[in-house]
Amino acid sequence: MSETKDNTSPVIQEVTKHDITSAVAVAGHPIHAMSVHFPIALVIGTLGLDLLYWFSGDPFFLRASVWSAGSAFILGVAAAIVGTAELLLVRGIRSRVGSWTHAVAAMTLLAIAGTNWGVRLVAPDEVLPHGLALSVLASIFTGIAGWHGGKLVFDHGVGLMVSPKK
Ligand code: HEM
Repeated sequence: MSETKDNTSPVIQEVTKHDITSAVAVAGHPIHAMSVHFPIALVIGTLGLDLLYWFSGDPFFLRASVWSAGSAFILGVAAAIVGTAELLLVRGIRSRVGSWTHAVAAMTLLAIAGTNWGVRLVAPDEVLPHGLALSVLASIFTGIAGWHGGKLVFDHGVGLMVSPKK
């Protein structure tokens, strides 16, 4: 009788041993995954407002972008606090390299988003070109952070509940 051999690396075996159930959740639904949509949409929305301001010159878009950039930053910080709690509290999340890659990309995004808001508050004349450049950079980092966050859920199964319901 042939014996089946597990060729999985011992490191992977150690990582997959630990629980990855969300610790900050409502009825099993991770609050972080529910809250990230707002900062993501607001970062991209701020880029849209900057482009409209560039094309039209209408100061309405400049004023609106102060609010969207500020909300993107504040809601991003709120989402990051919950994400950090997951990272620190759940051993299976903490032990995955992907979690830290996502966290570093997300913190970089927040630094850019905060600067983008600050520029609009203290130097509205600088929005073209500096605010626009920051909006482009923030959108790129939103993509990088979101990609790695999505990998945690869809590749690693972080926070997923496999329902027994049919
Ligand atoms: C240091 C800060 C952060 C940490 C430690 C962190 C950690 C995590 C963790 C552990 C997950 C897996 C789902 C869960 O357990 O809730 C996740 C998912 C995700 N995160 Fe973060 N996160 C941070 C900040 C952010 C920010 C600022 C954004 C975007 C604005 C973001 C976007 C996402 C996305 C898009 C997902 C996938 C959610 C889904 O597909 O449902 N994260 N993050």
